[in-house]
Amino acid sequence: RPGAAEWVPEGAPVDELRVAAHDCRGCELWRDATQEVFSTGRQGAPLMLVGEQPGDREDLAGEPFVGPAGRLLAGAVDAAGIGRDRVYLTNAVKHFRFRMRGKRRIHEKPAVAHIVACRPWLEAEFDAVGPAVIVALGATAARSVLGRTVRIGEVRGRVLPPDTADRPSTLPAPVVVTTHPSALLRIEDAAERAAAFEALVDDLRTAADAAG
Ligand code: URA
Ligand code: SF4
Repeated sequence: RPGAAEWVPEGAPVDELRVAAHDCRGCELWRDATQEVFSTGRQGAPLMLVGEQPGDREDLAGEPFVGPAGRLLAGAVDAAGIGRDRVYLTNAVKHFRFRMRGKRRIHEKPAVAHIVACRPWLEAEFDAVGPAVIVALGATAARSVLGRTVRIGEVRGRVLPPDTADRPSTLPAPVVVTTHPSALLRIEDAAERAAAFEALVDDLRTAADAAG
C-alpha cells in the first residue's frame, strides 16, 4: 500500500524507527521540510500524546513540541501532575507542511492523504511504546489515531475504547481526545483561554487516571 509502510522496519524499537524515518518518502512532505521530526519520551511510557505535525520551530530543531504550543502543553502536563517520564510525545505527521508568504513559512494543516501516508509510523510507535492510553491532541491527531473524523466537542475528555476506531486492530489502547494546544494560543480573551487550559488539564488527568 502507498505511504510510509515500505520504510518502516517491522518490530523495531523507537530509536531504530527514528533513524529509519530519516529516509521516508511516503508522501511529498519530506521534500520541502528541513528534516523529519519523530518523537521524544520513553519507550514504555504509559501515556502517548499525539500532536498534529511539527511546526516551524520543531522543523528546525528536529524535536517535537519545542515551540510555543509545546511550552503550553508541557505546562498542562505539569498542572495535571503527570511526570514527564510518563509521557511519550509524537505527531500524526512527521514532516512540517507549510506554504511561503514572503520569507515566512506559514503552517498548513496536513491533508488526509498525509495523515494516512504517515500512519504506519504511528502504528510502529504503538507497537514499540505499548502505551496504556493514547491522547489525541486536536482533530488531525484524532483523525489519525481513530482512522475517522470525529467532532472534538462530541468526544473530548472521555475514555474511548479501541473499537471506536475504524480499524480497531490497529489501536492498542483506549483513546482520549482533547484540544490541540495551538488552539489555545489563538484564544485572545484571557479568561476564556484560562478555562480552555483547565479543560485541557482535566482531559490529561482523565487520561493519566485511565493509564493507572
Ligand atoms: N504542534 C504539534 O502538533 N506538534 C508539534 O510537534 C509542535 C506543535
Ligand atoms: Fe514519510 Fe510521514 Fe514524512 Fe510523509 S510526512 S515523508 S509519510 S515521514
